[in-house]
Amino acid sequence: MSVHSEIKKITTETLRKMKFDKEKITMLTAYDFTTAKMVDAGGVDSILIGDSAANVMAGHETTLPITLDQMIYHTQCVVRGVERALVVADLPFGTYQSNPEKALESAVRMMKEGGAHAVKIEGGKEIEDSIRKIVNAGIPVCGHLGLTPQSIYQFGTYKVRAKEDAEAEKLISDCKLLEELGCFAVVLEKIPAALAKKASESISIPTIGIGAGPDCDGQVLVYHDMVGMNQGFSPKFLRRYLDLYSEITGAVSQYVKDVKSADFPNDKESY
Ligand code: KIV
Repeated sequence: MSVHSEIKKITTETLRKMKFDKEKITMLTAYDFTTAKMVDAGGVDSILIGDSAANVMAGHETTLPITLDQMIYHTQCVVRGVERALVVADLPFGTYQSNPEKALESAVRMMKEGGAHAVKIEGGKEIEDSIRKIVNAGIPVCGHLGLTPQSIYQFGTYKVRAKEDAEAEKLISDCKLLEELGCFAVVLEKIPAALAKKASESISIPTIGIGAGPDCDGQVLVYHDMVGMNQGFSPKFLRRYLDLYSEITGAVSQYVKDVKSADFPNDKESY
């Protein structure tokens, strides 16, 4: 008899079926082993090693500076902590846009060295050839449309995207293209709820929203935002489930007091 516990792993097929069954999909980011273990134990369906690691882990203003080697390192750490969730890793800026061969090389490194189960890349029609090349190699691809942070210098702002008809129409046609190309899901970031609903109804692969309203097939948040570690970031779409910034700074300041006053360590805490 096997000594391994029977954990049913989530696959891209599971997510497809969840959309079909109208069961909402949950996704959160993680960038390290310990967090990934907790997020997986909490029952999330998918863990995203987002290039938001550039912001929350490294303190950069945008997601652009993070490298493929750094994303691979974060992915390796997360994979070691996950038993159940589908692990999706972002390909960072500059590693897939220039040509399909480079895109495939980056995706292969992320799967082989990082141990990801799938990759996520930003954009639609413009990166069609890269998506096709990666999918044809047997690597599951999650698309990302709407506010795509790797294009922030082109957008000039983090405001809601696709409020105008032309951008909204392009988003719907990009969603259909991503489905045709074989993507298994698409993240929709910061777009009007009505447009996200229309997008979700127009394709059979799941949409996973962030700031895209309640009618997406699933939701994703950045872990550090939802547990309240990132005090300065309060967009309308964010729901905070904890106030860890206050909890942690409070605990640290109590530790400082205890050491300074020689209260810690006491006899029971000494050998
Ligand atoms: O990098 C990231 O964390 C993301 C999510 C916000 C979807 O792409």
